Amino acid sequence: MKGLILAGGHGTRLRPITYTIQKQLIPIANKAIIYYIIEDIVSAGIKEIGIVVGPNKEQVKEKVGDGSRWGCQITYIEQDEPKGLAHAILISKEFLGEDKFIMYLGDNLIKGGINQFVDNFKNGIHSLSLMLTEVPNPEDYGIALIDEQKKVITKLLEKPKAPPTNLSIVGIYGFTNEIFEAIKNIKPSWRNELEVTDAMQWMIENQSKNASFNIVTGWWKDTGSAQS
Ligand code: DAU
Repeated sequence: MKGLILAGGHGTRLRPITYTIQKQLIPIANKAIIYYIIEDIVSAGIKEIGIVVGPNKEQVKEKVGDGSRWGCQITYIEQDEPKGLAHAILISKEFLGEDKFIMYLGDNLIKGGINQFVDNFKNGIHSLSLMLTEVPNPEDYGIALIDEQKKVITKLLEKPKAPPTNLSIVGIYGFTNEIFEAIKNIKPSWRNELEVTDAMQWMIENQSKNASFNIVTGWWKDTGSAQS
C-alpha cells in the first residue's frame, strides 16, 4: 500500500501565518504538522509516500526531504492550482498505480495513529474506508450517514447547511483504485473544486462494495482554522 499526503492549498483560513509558511509546516509542540502525519503513516507499515505540493512547494520539499530520516521514500507531486482533493488524487495516478492507498490530509492531527484503520482496510473487501468522529459543528466538514447496524456508510455530504448527523469525515481515507473511475464521473462543486466527498458518494451509489469506517477514539483536529 502507498500513502498520499495533501500539502497544497493556500491555507486562507490561517492568514496571516500562511503568507510566510505553508499550512502543513506550522509547528505544533515544536514539530511541523506534516511530520506527525509521516510518522503515523510509517508506523502503519507504509514506506512509499507521495506528497502533493502546491504553493510554497520548495519550502515543503526542503523541510521534509526524501523521507530517509523516517525510513520511507517520498515522491513529490506538483499541483498547479488547488483544484480540490479529488483533483489531487487524479494527478497522483501514476505514483499510486494499481495499489490500494491511504490519503491523509496534511493539516489533520489525530491522537492514536492510524495502525488499526490501515490494517482493517488492507485486509478488508471495501473499495473505500473512512475515519469518522462526532463533532459539535458538522456544517464545517464532510459528514457521513451510517446504517442502523453501524456497519457501513450509506451517504456522504460535503459541508451541508443543515447536517442530518454530527458524524464528521476525518481527513484520513482508504481507497482502492476504483476511486479514479468515480472522479471521472463528478463535476466541480460550487467552490469550483473536485470534491473527494462527491467522488465517494458516487462510489457508494454506483459500485458494489460497501464503504466501511472506523470511529476515532482519541481526539482529532483539522488544524485548518485559527480556532482549532
Ligand atoms: O479535515 C477534514 C475535512 O477536510 C473533511 O471533513 C472534508 O470532507 C474535506 O473536504 C476537507 O475539508 P477542508 O475544507 O478542511 O479541506 P481543505 O481545503 O482544508 O484541504 C485539506 C488539505 O488538502 C489541506 O492540507 C490542503 C490540501 N489541499 C487542498 C486542496 C483543495 C491540496 O493539497 N490541494 C487542493 O486542491
